[in-house]
Amino acid sequence: MILPIYTYGQPVLRKEAEPLDTTSAEVRQKLEQLIPDMFETLAHADGVGLAAPQIGLDIRMVIVDLSPCAEEDPAFADYKKVYINPDIYEESEEECSMGEGCLSLPGIHESVKRPVSVKVRYLDERFQEHDEELTGFPARVIQHECDHLDGTMFIDHLSSLRKQMIRGKLTSLLKGKVHADYKTKSVRKP
Ligand code: NI
Repeated sequence: MILPIYTYGQPVLRKEAEPLDTTSAEVRQKLEQLIPDMFETLAHADGVGLAAPQIGLDIRMVIVDLSPCAEEDPAFADYKKVYINPDIYEESEEECSMGEGCLSLPGIHESVKRPVSVKVRYLDERFQEHDEELTGFPARVIQHECDHLDGTMFIDHLSSLRKQMIRGKLTSLLKGKVHADYKTKSVRKP
């Protein structure tokens, strides 16, 4: 089922999300439907990452699907991952800038500086523990998505000048003027 993506201005995007109790049978059962729904929603929106708050749930879970980028890098052809309660516990000192966008901020694309590599601990969809080091594009995506779990959006990383430049676009989103090719849920209908 394709779920609507919450856009800028929705309070859930600014909340600190709650850890998932993966020992709960009820939680596990809920995820069985939620995970495929999130992948379907992400594919429909042509995105590479989606955090639960973006579909209105304040839980610490993100999904990543880099398969749309397989043309640039064949290693991404089957790159589909679920991160439950992810914890980025180490970041490289080296940083780089890369263009970013966000399904919750349609029409806004800006260059963001972030660490090149990160180490992340998380549970997968089978509740298996992982500890992995990510570099380059996958590291970029996981940092962007994990930010969402702390109520942070990529625009928060911009310089005050760049923030000023996009202020008009943000105001339009708050007014409900959302132009996207996918289902969205904005604070206000235009
Ligand atoms: Ni985003």
